[in-house]
Amino acid sequence: MPRLNVILASTRPNRAGGSVAHWFMRAATEHGGFDAHLIDLADLALPFLDEPDAAIDGKPYRHEHTRRWSAISAAADAYTIVTPEYNQGYPAALKNALDYLYYEWNDKPVAFVTYGMSSGGLRAAHMLKPVVSALKMVPVAETVTIHLRQALDADGRLAPSQSMQNAAKNTLDELLRITPALATLRS
Ligand SMILES: Cc1cc2nc3c(=O)[nH]c(=O)nc-3n(C[C@H](O)[C@H](O)[C@H](O)COP(=O)(O)O)c2cc1C
Repeated sequence: MPRLNVILASTRPNRAGGSVAHWFMRAATEHGGFDAHLIDLADLALPFLDEPDAAIDGKPYRHEHTRRWSAISAAADAYTIVTPEYNQGYPAALKNALDYLYYEWNDKPVAFVTYGMSSGGLRAAHMLKPVVSALKMVPVAETVTIHLRQALDADGRLAPSQSMQNAAKNTLDELLRITPALATLRS
C-alpha cells in the first residue's frame, strides 16, 4: 500500500487540530487504500530554517533534524495536510516545515483537510496551493473543509458530520487515484 503522511500543522497547546487529525487518521484507516502515518509538527519541533543551503541546491543537509525530517517525508507516496486557518492564512510552522525540503516533495500528491471558525479554512488551502506547486507537489481538487462552530459539540469535542465523512472518503479516493500515476513519474 502507498504510504500516506498526514501532517498536523497546528503546534498549539489545546489545539483543535489533534481531534481533527485523529478523526482523519481513522477515516484513512477505514478507507483502507493507504498505510497512513500521523506526522505531528509539534513533536517534530523543527527550529526556524537553519540550513545554510536551500534544499533545491541538493547539497547534503547540515543538521540532524533536517535529515530526520527528510527521511520521514521522502518515505511518503502521498500527503494530507491538516491545517487550521490563522489570520486568513496557514500556520508559520507549516511553511517552515515545507521550506526545509524540496526533492522529497516533488511529484507527489497532496490533499488538504482545513478547519477554522469562520471560513472552514478554505483561505488557508488557497494560500497553500501556490506553495505546494512551487515544491512540485500535485494538489487534489477534493478537500475536507471543517467549520468548527458546527463541528464541535457543546463540550468542545469534534462531532463529525456525515458530510465530513463523505468529504474525507472522496478526498482519499482522489488521492489514491493519482498516487500510482505520480509514482510512475518518479520512477
Ligand atoms: C492566531 C489565530 C488566528 C486565527 N485566525 C482565524 C481566521 O483567520 N479564520 C478562521 O476561520 N479562524 C481563525 N482562527 C480560529 C481558529 O481556526 C481556531 O481557533 C482553531 O481551533 C485553530 O486551530 P488549532 O486549535 O488546531 O490551533 C484563528 C485562531 C488563531 C489562534
